[in-house]
Amino acid sequence: MQTQLTLRRPDDWHLHLRDGAALRSVIAASARQFARAIVMPNLKPPVTTLDAAQAYRGRILRALNEARAAGEIDDLAAGFEPLMTLYLTDNTGAQDILEAKASGLVHAVKLYPAGATTNSDAGVSDMARVRPALEAMQSVGLPLLVHGEVTDPQVDLFDREQVFIDRVMLPLRRDFPALKVVFEHITTLQAAQYVAQAGELTAATITAHHLLYNRNALFLGGVRPHWYCLPVLKRETHRQALVQAATRGGAQFFLGTDSAPHARHLKEHACGCAGCYTAPHALELYAAAFEAAGALDSLEAFASLNGPRFYGLPVNEGQVSLRRTAWQIPDSLPFDGESIVPLAAGESLAWQMVAG
Ligand code: DOR
Ligand code: ZN
Repeated sequence: MQTQLTLRRPDDWHLHLRDGAALRSVIAASARQFARAIVMPNLKPPVTTLDAAQAYRGRILRALNEARAAGEIDDLAAGFEPLMTLYLTDNTGAQDILEAKASGLVHAVKLYPAGATTNSDAGVSDMARVRPALEAMQSVGLPLLVHGEVTDPQVDLFDREQVFIDRVMLPLRRDFPALKVVFEHITTLQAAQYVAQAGELTAATITAHHLLYNRNALFLGGVRPHWYCLPVLKRETHRQALVQAATRGGAQFFLGTDSAPHARHLKEHACGCAGCYTAPHALELYAAAFEAAGALDSLEAFASLNGPRFYGLPVNEGQVSLRRTAWQIPDSLPFDGESIVPLAAGESLAWQMVAG
């Protein structure tokens, strides 16, 4: 039985780091696991300009320094690189895009359909309004990252991703064929099939939780808010299609945790927030999913090679290793003066990360 797994250092292509004390609470977890991460811009207020992205990057780097000074991470982890993104709004113009690209700090622009998820109120209300921005992105090669769910209340929550393909993705690809697009955190067979045949300028991230769980996890023995995220977990056939895409689907599929921390009391609530906190044990969760599929040998491409290739960035130097050692995910962790419950808290994992 394989007892050690060594990979080139991986990256997280979809991460929520939050801000202030929450940022300080979670930064070490991602820095220990990943060399770089695409940092989502859905703060309050959202990161809509280059200035805001630069300032946010400065706060992330400060939090990393503090974590290093506190002995939470070593020098290698302290070199974690936040790859900044802008939040697309109805008012984002071509000039905003050109400036962002020229800075070298902004690596993508995130499309949240208005109202689709946490802090998405300032999102795009009509794709026609963002045509100049999309044209500029297409011309300078700045990828569009898409939260792919329609917000139409008439559409069943479980169908919102597949309806998005017809209503938004197909017209978007037709109108902007040279735009790089990442269909973020895909959750359905339809999205996996769509991306697989959409050509090399269309990619997808897949979370560990969508590879490991189907929607039964939300209701096992009672409502389990720590398994609630958006897009919501789907039925087993979809989970299987995602596993197939991640393990054997090729270079268009790569790792994006969508680790989305919310304090415990906001998850265990009458109207609980969407988001699973997976940053501390992300790679171990992915290893579990890949091992269950008999595909540990394809984890490196998914975690460390496909993402940089799509983004036009070099792969990381160095390696990380996982060792086969059973360990228990903590019941809770400190977060912003309160606590947070990591996904699958109290459960056991077979793999554990060890230093390079
Ligand atoms: O579950 C989610 N949480 N989905 C998102 O799209 C946003 C995220 C968050 O920021 O909490
Ligand atoms: Zn997200």
